[in-house]
Amino acid sequence: MAYNIIVIAGSVRKAGFSLKIANALAKLAPSSLKLEVITPAGISFFNQDLEGAPPADWLAFRDKLQKADGVIFVTPEYNRSIPGALKNAIDVASRPYGKSSLNGKPVGIISNSPGPLGGVSAAKHLQTILPGISGPIMQQPETYLNAIGDAFDAEGNLVKESLKPVLQAYIDAFAVHVAKHHG
Ligand code: FNR
Repeated sequence: MAYNIIVIAGSVRKAGFSLKIANALAKLAPSSLKLEVITPAGISFFNQDLEGAPPADWLAFRDKLQKADGVIFVTPEYNRSIPGALKNAIDVASRPYGKSSLNGKPVGIISNSPGPLGGVSAAKHLQTILPGISGPIMQQPETYLNAIGDAFDAEGNLVKESLKPVLQAYIDAFAVHVAKHHG
């Protein structure tokens, strides 16, 4: 049976490159992985006042993560960090204190940008945020995708040939990472 992997595309915009990368990963995944792509859209703003009676969207998001065997973050960079919507989703997932929905889950990080630096600062921020609330983070291959603007056609198909082996190598390595760390 395939491992159930949630891929969180960190932007909420419909035409996001992060979403397109996540969908491309799903097409390239080996048969040992089943990828479901989601975004942080629709996750209510975190508020400790609501922790006693959490909104249904928090519970559904946490449940989805709890049932997953691994999680991949595909993040853009907003002002040298991750988008607020993604940080909010992670804050929701991390609670209640000590019961993070990501606890023990093998995780992966891919950053991207139309610019030259590949969103590396956002990826590094995730490397800071996740260790206390997730399982082992895959360290290699480091994957910061720059110049992403011409990678997809209007239908969202990956047309940048040089990117295909990069994404293939990433998802193949993640399959090994999940098999190694899955409880
Ligand atoms: C950006 N963008 C951006 N790019 C980058 O390489 N470094 C950065 O710090 C920022 N900062 C930033 C802030 C805000 C508020 C926006 C809206 C955008 C550009 C960003 O990479 C670009 O809009 C991507 O297309 C966003 O990712 P998605 O939505 O395509 O996945």
